[in-house]
Amino acid sequence: HVFKLEDYRPSDYLIPKTSLDFRLSPDATRVTALLTVERRGGVATSAPLVLDGDGLTLLGVAIDGHALAPADYLATPDQLTIPKPPAAPRFELRLETEIAPSSNEALMGLYRSSNVYCTQCEAEGFRRITYFLDRPDILSVYTVRIEAPHNEAPLLLSNGNPVESGVFADGRHFAVWHDPFPKPSYLFALVAGALGKVAGSFTTLSGREVELGIFVEPGKERLAGYAMDALKRSMKWDEEAFGREYDLDVFNIVAVSDFNMGAMENKGLNIFNDKYVLADEETATDADFANIEAIIAHEYFHNWTGNRITCRDWFQLCLKEGLTVYRDHEFSADQRSRAVKRIAEVRTLRAHQFPEDQGPLAHPVRPRRYREINNFYTATVYEKGSEVVRMIRTILGPEVFRAGMDLYFERHDGEAATIEDFLKVFEDVSGRDLAQFALWYHQAGTPNLTVSSSYNAAAKAFTLEIEQSVPPTPSESRKRLMHIPLAFGLVGAGGKPIAWTTVEGATVEDGVIHIRKRRHTVRFSGVSERPSVSLNRGFSAPITLSVQQKADDQLFLASHDSDSFARWQAFNTLLTDVLIAAFRQVLGGKQPAFTVKLAELAGRIAGDEALEPAYRALALSLPSEADIAREIGKGIDPDAIFGAREALALAIAAANRESFEALYLGLADNGPFTPDAASAGRRALRNILLDYLSLLPEGAALAATHFHSATNMTDRAAALTVLAHRHAGSRQAQEALAGFEARYRGDALVLDKWFLIQAGVPGPQTVDKVRALMQHPAFSIANPNRVRSLIGTFSSANQTGFHGADGQGYRFFAETVLEVEKRNPQVAARLATALRSWRSLEPVRQDKARQALLQIANAENLSADLRDIVERTLA
Ligand code: ARG
Ligand code: ZN
Repeated sequence: HVFKLEDYRPSDYLIPKTSLDFRLSPDATRVTALLTVERRGGVATSAPLVLDGDGLTLLGVAIDGHALAPADYLATPDQLTIPKPPAAPRFELRLETEIAPSSNEALMGLYRSSNVYCTQCEAEGFRRITYFLDRPDILSVYTVRIEAPHNEAPLLLSNGNPVESGVFADGRHFAVWHDPFPKPSYLFALVAGALGKVAGSFTTLSGREVELGIFVEPGKERLAGYAMDALKRSMKWDEEAFGREYDLDVFNIVAVSDFNMGAMENKGLNIFNDKYVLADEETATDADFANIEAIIAHEYFHNWTGNRITCRDWFQLCLKEGLTVYRDHEFSADQRSRAVKRIAEVRTLRAHQFPEDQGPLAHPVRPRRYREINNFYTATVYEKGSEVVRMIRTILGPEVFRAGMDLYFERHDGEAATIEDFLKVFEDVSGRDLAQFALWYHQAGTPNLTVSSSYNAAAKAFTLEIEQSVPPTPSESRKRLMHIPLAFGLVGAGGKPIAWTTVEGATVEDGVIHIRKRRHTVRFSGVSERPSVSLNRGFSAPITLSVQQKADDQLFLASHDSDSFARWQAFNTLLTDVLIAAFRQVLGGKQPAFTVKLAELAGRIAGDEALEPAYRALALSLPSEADIAREIGKGIDPDAIFGAREALALAIAAANRESFEALYLGLADNGPFTPDAASAGRRALRNILLDYLSLLPEGAALAATHFHSATNMTDRAAALTVLAHRHAGSRQAQEALAGFEARYRGDALVLDKWFLIQAGVPGPQTVDKVRALMQHPAFSIANPNRVRSLIGTFSSANQTGFHGADGQGYRFFAETVLEVEKRNPQVAARLATALRSWRSLEPVRQDKARQALLQIANAENLSADLRDIVERTLA
């Protein structure tokens, strides 16, 4: 079945009140739902009531206290139909279902993970608990009673505020929770089990005392301190930056070890993958700390953008996700370094969203059709969705943007809204027409701007010729012209901005050229010297640029651009261009050669004390193999890309040996560990220097020393990666891998790093290693984190391993995706996206990749999730 945006219509019935009663038992949990059902005004009394289910067993159904006869309803596992509901406008429907949390390996609905009952209902998991109008525009006030044996589940949590609890003589107990805020079913949550609690409190701006709780596996409480701190900072920040206060008496977070995604914003009861809660310096890297901070913030921010204002239907997913990602990006930028954060965001967008937008799975930020909504929790909806919100702010300016957000909260609080509603608030506060801008939501594909420039010294005129194009994407061959806010600067000697007197050919305001037509000739007059032009400053629009610019201008901007993003970009573009040329040399059987200029510039950036260490680290990290492949576009031979990249790294290392060594030594940090951004930045710089130095003679010994003297996981994991990836097979690598395994045996989250590092070892032999590691006692194909670390890393981050020319990687992939799918279709479907760029491979690999996709497509009993991905990928 294909769901289409234009088919949306309001439901005939509403469910203003929902009471749920759970009697928990691993294999037979009884769920009693008491639903107040209301016929919507104007709907005929003959309209049947049709509720969604998914794999349910119905034990009983009653209306207004009277059991229905079998002839009065039709129940299948996936639907409950009451053909002739009462004529009264409102009635009470009582449903009793039985479910088996223990055997729920899809991890949707109510399931058990390490003896803890928990739920995941977004997008359509609630229907695996009881029959319901399981759609986001059905807002209901929930009261939830949970009953379980006290020894099995001493803790009983649900959404909202606790209202009642008690114990029975037989060892059972119960708790009742009430959530006063009407919410859609996807935000329902229940947790029950034996968990340790970290308690905190927060006083809101208006003086409300909120009790905070983070619940973790008993014994791991001390690992939740950073998450608690991040939560308090998030609550404060949302008050300051958006005027948003928390609204319940309690806010709880639960960490579970089997979770399909990162985390979930259930009202008052966020549930997290424990990977994004638990951290200390011994077990977590700086990247883990940053992710925890960002995800805690993201889920907390959903309380307003997602929960208080939710989505009318799943086509509007970006209404909550893109906006909330934008908010968590801003939070991290304020808590850390804005410049570094922006570069990291753009790298992520390019690594994940660009290939999606440029391949067979491309879809608009607001899709118009889907077969399986779980497959639309994508980088396009989340990351590009965030960029679209950022562009609104760029176009309107910070004050008008904030006024628009205020109006959004005021106008739509308590509603299930649409993208049109969102855009309208900004039109209303600004008086602008955003119709052309709205195409960012409706049109898939990454727009490209082709830019060339010329300077006429006699006329003091500088001209930019800009042409936009949007490439065709699946089922959208013709595109309309977009409104692209292009931030720019004219840069003169020493990096000074160059002024102009007048400009014509486009609207230019506050350093932004508004591209709206296919072609713009933008003429600046009164320009006193020939400028270098800095384009898409701050990455003001999620586009690609084809700029005809001299390498000298690029070199100049890489040293002098006052916009830190554009400066980073200039250097990164230089590196990319050189890598593409080197790739062609390798393909042609030549040894790639590099000019010294680039290596010298790398050396200068590394040692530039005026720049933050984290920025320098980002500048020095070469475009990834996947980045290079994306820029090349087609005929990809991953081995040649690998060869080119290694050769450039070696050239940079060799040219800067002494200065890199001195810097590396100077960055050694013997003080106590702190996870703050500045300290993390110094570690990042030192670790990238290690990466370069490890390519030189004695590199393995240096990395081994780094590994053994490490006092935190960031340094330890970085050194282990260098040893395993660059010195695979060396004694030092073997010892370090064995030592790491022995040290962290029993800590599944840390062993995930051990799996991940080994899955990333370059070369065609890694597929056998990955197969062998699947037999490791710590590996479990039922656990999403294990699967992502080992199989996900191999298939989506190991270019030379996965895309080995013999096709073994693809064969392994097809088998394993099908194996994962038997238990968990959602995780399998996500894994399967690793082949989305198969058409850009050279012909031999392309054919083998296609065979693997066909093998999946032809398997029997394929889930809707996986079928949707492989069919679109092959189409
Ligand atoms: N709403 C959650 C978040 O972004 C993610 C839920 C993902 N659900 C899914 N079915 N993939 O915070
Ligand atoms: Zn989210």
